[in-house]
Amino acid sequence: MRELKSINILAIESSCDETAAAVINNGRFVRSNVISSQIELHKLYGGVVPEIASRKHIEKINQVIEEALKEADTTLDDIDAIGVTYGPGLVGALLVGVAEAKAIAFAKNLPLIGVHHIEGHISANYIEHPDLEPPFICLVVSGGHTHLVRVQDYGTYEILGRTRDDAAGEAYDKVARAIGLGYPGGPKIDRIAKEGNPDAIKFPKAKIDGAPSDFSFSGLKSAVLNYINGCKMKGETYDPADIAASFQKAVVEVLVEKSMDAVAKYGLDKFAIAGGVASNSALREGMKKACEERGIKFYYPSPIYCTDNAAMIGAAAYYEYLAGTRHGWDLNAVPNLKLGER
Ligand code: KG4
Ligand code: ZN
Repeated sequence: MRELKSINILAIESSCDETAAAVINNGRFVRSNVISSQIELHKLYGGVVPEIASRKHIEKINQVIEEALKEADTTLDDIDAIGVTYGPGLVGALLVGVAEAKAIAFAKNLPLIGVHHIEGHISANYIEHPDLEPPFICLVVSGGHTHLVRVQDYGTYEILGRTRDDAAGEAYDKVARAIGLGYPGGPKIDRIAKEGNPDAIKFPKAKIDGAPSDFSFSGLKSAVLNYINGCKMKGETYDPADIAASFQKAVVEVLVEKSMDAVAKYGLDKFAIAGGVASNSALREGMKKACEERGIKFYYPSPIYCTDNAAMIGAAAYYEYLAGTRHGWDLNAVPNLKLGER
């Protein structure tokens, strides 16, 4: 058999508040993965400030790329292609990565591959699971997205469902703020929920008529706020740990239920989760149990590949590279890019 050429991709990610670069070999082997997080800066404002994010990306991007090359013990001369997130995300933030990727690709005469951010999150699962290949169902849950996706093949996706309002991570962040935990709230709720009773408060689970795979989290968020206000008005105390645990239970139950329905509907035996919220311990436990009960193989990335990173962009870029995807010098940031568009 002819040996496949070894392909090294330099990948860049700057769609939100992480400036990241990575060198990935053949889509699955991480030679380096450098992430410069701006979280400390945005914490002051309780969320990501787009203008600050763009400025910080400009300050950091060259340094992050240099570090990624150094950590991989390589130079641009050994890179075969440049992969970059070009949407969806904050337009000013995306533009920094896209401009940088174009400049490097032009200077070194390398192929340029624009990657969809969600495709990156899904592809994070390829990094640590050499056996994972499409078709499978993937639930992408992050600060900006909640998508249930059927991965038909590398680069071929069908969106089965999405959130109608808040993303799952956004709901975590808003509830965390309401119980005084600060930003970003997801990991904090995850932590204090362990000390609370998940059955203490019955929060609603939204059902959407005619769209069984769609999600809605704003009603749940309002129910939490109403509960807190109700307690305050009655002069009663409330336990933040019980609220966190009960809220988390409601979120996890909905995500598990809709994901398992989708896996069953398409008769698949593989299921993956991705995105920042995929680090959540209750979600991992809930999905693991549900998959075991149904004989489905469950995949999830390590936390470092759940949150925004460039290794996942390199994994996605590799399969796009093999499929022949090449972008021109007119590649632009597309803040509302649809999955599957090229
Ligand atoms: O994927 P990500 O880093 O950025 C986006 O593309 O949005 O996701 C960030 C989101 C935040 O909302 C954060 O609160 C949430 O992921 N998150 C978590 C956990 N770790 C991060 N949510 C729940 N439990 C966690 N352990
Ligand atoms: Zn993300």
